[in-house]
Amino acid sequence: MSSNSESVEEILGYQSAILDTVADGIVCIDATGVITTFNKAAEAIFGYDADEVVGQKINMLMPMSHARHHDSYLANYASSGKAKLIGTRPEVEGKRKSGEIFPIEVGLTEASYQGRKIFVGVVRDITERKRVERLKSEFIAAVNHELRTPLTSIAGPLALIQSGKLGPLSPVAQKSAEIAMRNCNRLTVLINDLLDFEQTSSGKAQFDLQSYEVHELVSRAVQDNATEAEGRGVILSVLQETVYDCIRVDRARLLQVIGNLLSNALKFSEAGSEVWVGAECFEGRIRISVADRGIGIAREHHDRIFQRFTQVDSSATRRAGGTGLGLAISKQLTEQMGGEIGFESELERGSTFWVIFPVAPSVMAAAAE
Ligand SMILES: Nc1ncnc2c1ncn2[C@@H]1O[C@H](COP(=O)(O)OP(=O)(O)OP(=O)(O)O)[C@@H](O)[C@H]1O
Ligand SMILES: [Mg+2]
Repeated sequence: MSSNSESVEEILGYQSAILDTVADGIVCIDATGVITTFNKAAEAIFGYDADEVVGQKINMLMPMSHARHHDSYLANYASSGKAKLIGTRPEVEGKRKSGEIFPIEVGLTEASYQGRKIFVGVVRDITERKRVERLKSEFIAAVNHELRTPLTSIAGPLALIQSGKLGPLSPVAQKSAEIAMRNCNRLTVLINDLLDFEQTSSGKAQFDLQSYEVHELVSRAVQDNATEAEGRGVILSVLQETVYDCIRVDRARLLQVIGNLLSNALKFSEAGSEVWVGAECFEGRIRISVADRGIGIAREHHDRIFQRFTQVDSSATRRAGGTGLGLAISKQLTEQMGGEIGFESELERGSTFWVIFPVAPSVMAAAAE
């Protein structure tokens, strides 16, 4: 063997030794869909040895329903140069040697070597994750159902007792009934929030998308939260710029999102400070923002603020109450209506949370078209 070929073999051996230490499956294919690399983790995931699959078509690792389309996908890519999936991490299905179909997440990238294209798939078996997700959804659905019915039967009579319609109450009894009622309402909100989150994350939520003028949505949201602001002694105002453009949203859902942002802004502000709701139009998009000069959010918490049950663990947050679902739900709702959500915040300076939606053609313009 020439020293040259030895070095090529050495390099290959060296590379596959590295690939075999990676915990994720790595499957590479060429432009025609033929498998060129299959590391140890991929062997464990799919149940094949590398030499059973290298040189075969990638379709053998997919259920029939995907396999049929994969060749035309590659052919389309070869002719158009457009690969929709490159750079994404789609959740798809794989097929093990045993024939079992299972969920995988595949990170797809492309490389080229000596003028030839190589597609690299980093494969993760997400069977367990999906199972846990399903269990969690089922559990939440069951708990919701089981809690909601008795809770309604507690709330009804309690409201009656509290109103005095069932007879006069002593001041102490009145106070107790009010506390019970308040807690009953808190439970109802929590249960509704959990149900909402499950529905939106499983794609079961229904959206009635229509065009609405932004200024109307903003003033509605402000009106809806005026009492809450007053109760907290916070001044709630609308920023001057009035946007007459329309966005296409589900009205109740959008008001729910702004309501969540407003409830946070009010909750984390001191009495006497101000909260602003504003809307502005830029580059064909509308940004609706809710700004406060409250406690703000430290940088290290920024990454997880939209995850559910996230509450920055400060005494102020604990005092403010809540369950940490508002922002997670808001993110889901916003994204499912085709918008974006984000924020800027500085500790002790305040926060601005915003949603962005594309400008929708007004009803008249749409009709004219
Ligand atoms: N305007 C804000 N100023 C400071 N901190 C905020 C603000 N908005 C959100 N946060 C932080 O993000 C966390 C998550 O907010 P989120 O709305 O999801 O939950 P929550 O308000 O605690 O409870 P819930 O909305 O379910 O009643 C809050 O607990 C708080 O720590
Ligand atoms: Mg909240």
